[in-house]
Amino acid sequence: MTVAHMASSLYLQRFAVNYEYPVHFTNGLFDPANPILRDTLTRREPRRRHRCLLFVDDGVLAVRPQLLADIEAYAKAHAAAIELVVAPVTVSGGEKIKNELFHIEWMMGLIQQHQIDRHSFVIAIGGGAVLDAVGLAAATSHRGIRHIRVPTTVLSQNDSGVGVKNGVNLKGSKNFIGTFAPPFAVLNDLDFIADLPAREKTAGMAEAVKVALIRDAAFFAWLERHVDALTLFEPGVMATMIRRCAELHMHQIAHAGDPFECGSARPLDFGHWAAHKIETLTRNHVRHGEAVAIGIALDTRYSVLAGLLQPGHEDRVAALLELLGFDLWHPVLEARASDGSYPLLKGLSEFREHLGGELTITLLEDIGRGIEVHEMDEARVREAIGWLKARRTAA
Ligand SMILES: NC(=O)c1ccc[n+]([C@@H]2O[C@H](COP(=O)([O-])OP(=O)(O)OC[C@H]3O[C@@H](n4cnc5c(N)ncnc54)[C@H](O)[C@@H]3O)[C@@H](O)[C@H]2O)c1
Ligand SMILES: [Zn+2]
Repeated sequence: MTVAHMASSLYLQRFAVNYEYPVHFTNGLFDPANPILRDTLTRREPRRRHRCLLFVDDGVLAVRPQLLADIEAYAKAHAAAIELVVAPVTVSGGEKIKNELFHIEWMMGLIQQHQIDRHSFVIAIGGGAVLDAVGLAAATSHRGIRHIRVPTTVLSQNDSGVGVKNGVNLKGSKNFIGTFAPPFAVLNDLDFIADLPAREKTAGMAEAVKVALIRDAAFFAWLERHVDALTLFEPGVMATMIRRCAELHMHQIAHAGDPFECGSARPLDFGHWAAHKIETLTRNHVRHGEAVAIGIALDTRYSVLAGLLQPGHEDRVAALLELLGFDLWHPVLEARASDGSYPLLKGLSEFREHLGGELTITLLEDIGRGIEVHEMDEARVREAIGWLKARRTAA
C-alpha cells in the first residue's frame, strides 16, 4: 500500500446539551391545595394528562401509612393533569434495595408492563437509597425516562437528591452500577423530615458540615451557632440547614465545570474515601452520614498533620460534629487483616479506581476552603486515626 492510499478523514463531532431542573422546597406536597407536583408534571406540556408510575420507600410508609391514600387523592383532585397508571408501588427502603439487582429488574418490568415511555414519569419517594435505585431503573429504561425525586431524608434533601447521579452496589462495591442522569425535578417536602428517626436526622447533618468546610466558612459558623437548635431538630433551623447545604451542592455541580465527574477531582466527596470504606466494613451498620462525620474528622486532622491547616481547627471541627451527636470513633478504623494491613486504607485505592485517573483527595487549607492533594501518607493517616482514638478515650 502506498502512502497516497492511507489518506483519512476526521470529523470532530461536537455538541452541548443544557440541563435544567427545578428544585422545590415545600410542605404538604400531596395536599391537593399544593400545586407544585401538578405544575412540575405539566411544565413542558401544560395541556396533556401525564402518566405516572410512583415508587414509595416502605420506611416512609411505616411512619406515614396514609401517604398512599394522600397520593391517590392528590391525583384525583388533579385528574386533568395526572394519571396514575397503577396504585403507588411500595419498595424496600435503605441499602437493601441497592444490594440486590433483582429490585432494579423488577422495577424495570413494571415500567415496561405499564408502558411508561419517555414522555411519562417515574416518581420516587424515599431516602437516598430508594432514589438511587429508582433513578437507575428510570435512567436505563428506554435509555432514560423523566424522573422526579421526592427525597424524604435529611441526607437526600440536602445532598444526594439534588445531584445528578444514581447507582446501586455490586458484590459489596458501592455504587458500582450507575449513571449520570439529571432528574426532571426535585421536590423536597420538609414535612417528611419530622417523621424521620433521630439517628437519620443527625446522620444527614454531616453533609452540611462537609460542604461548609470545603466551601463556606460563614455556613460553618452558622452551624456552630445553631448547634443546640439542630440537636433539638427545630424545624425552622433544620429547613435552613437543609436548604443552604442543597444550594452549595447544586452550585458546585453547576459551576465547578465538571458535573459528570470526567476529571479526577470530587470536592463534594471530602471525608468520603474513609466513609465509603467504613460503611462497607461495618456492613452498613454505620450510616453513610455517620461514616462521613468520622471521615471528615480524620481528614481534618490529617490536613493539620500535613501542614495544610492551622492546628486547632481539627478540634473545632471535631467538637461541632460531637455536639451534633456523632461518635467519631469506630473500632473498624484500626482493624487489621491477617497480613497486618489496614482494610480502611484500601479505601484510598478504591476511591481512585471508582473515578480512574490519579488519586485526588480534598483536604482543608482553612475552614471553608478545600484543597486537592494527590497522595496520602499512610503513616500520617494512622496518626490521625490515633488522634481520634485518643480523643474518644479522653472523653
Ligand atoms: N446519588 C448520589 O449522588 C448519592 C450521594 C450521597 C449518598 N447517596 C446514597 O444515599 C444512600 C443513603 O441515603 P439516606 O441517608 O437518605 O438513607 P436511606 O435511603 O438508606 O434511608 C434510611 C432509612 O430511613 C427510612 N426512611 C426514609 N425516609 C423516611 C422518613 N421520612 N421517615 C421515616 N423513615 C424514612 C428508609 O426506609 C431507610 O430505612 C446511600 O446508599 C448513599 O450511597 C447517593
Ligand atoms: Zn455523602
